[in-house]
Amino acid sequence: MSSQPTWDAVDAYFSEQLVGHDPVLEGATAAAAAAGLPKIAVAPNQGKLLHLLAVTQGAKRILEVGTLGGYSAIWLARALPADGTLLTLELDPRHAEVARGNLAAAGLAGVAEVRVGRAADSLAALVEQGVEPFDLVFIDADKPSNPEYFRRALQLTRPGSLIIVDNVVRGGAVADADSTDPAVVGTRALHELIAAEPTVTATSVQTVGSKGYDGFTLARVRG
Ligand code: SAH
Ligand code: DHB
Ligand code: MG
Repeated sequence: MSSQPTWDAVDAYFSEQLVGHDPVLEGATAAAAAAGLPKIAVAPNQGKLLHLLAVTQGAKRILEVGTLGGYSAIWLARALPADGTLLTLELDPRHAEVARGNLAAAGLAGVAEVRVGRAADSLAALVEQGVEPFDLVFIDADKPSNPEYFRRALQLTRPGSLIIVDNVVRGGAVADADSTDPAVVGTRALHELIAAEPTVTATSVQTVGSKGYDGFTLARVRG
């Protein structure tokens, strides 16, 4: 049976081989740690997966829910063409400030915007404003709100858009129908919503790695 030390070693190996030394990303991680932010950003090889999905998607407009220090935002924004944009939503102004600094240091201040507020409010405002649809949405904030964020994502996308949700497994708790953990309840409600939603086709995948035993959901808006 493999376990966390093995998962860490394999992630370190993959990241060493395929991600490599990246002073900008390492600086962003260091700045987030120095500012006392929780160490819950996506892992380097996961960040690169987000990047590759955004590139494959040809995304020009990316929406992120849950910025933290901007680590995943940097990976995603690096996939954008020169005229692309990334909007990332964050509740905590301290996190947003760190993220703005990190995005600027990455040379992405011109394409990435960090918007402070409850994501539910920011998303409602975007729908109200009738903004152009996003090509990719990455949902990675408070897990109890996942169903609400996903519903809003459906209103803010177009046929062919990709919606990604992080942390949908959480050590396997998602399979526990009796769980009263609000994060689990929210993630199960997300899956029920998706299952009943004819406008998306989706799958969820379990992962192990430096972030433990978790997983993500990928949903494509039907075209
Ligand atoms: N995507 C980031 C990690 C995000 S961690 C990365 O991988 O680099 C989750 C973030 O969601 C935290 O910064 C937290 O402050 C934020 N958050 C929590 N509740 C929120 C809410 N209601 N609205 C917006 N952001 C929220
Ligand atoms: C937590 C949140 C995340 O988005 C994540 O990737 C890992 C952990 C958390 O709130 O503990
Ligand atoms: Mg996450």
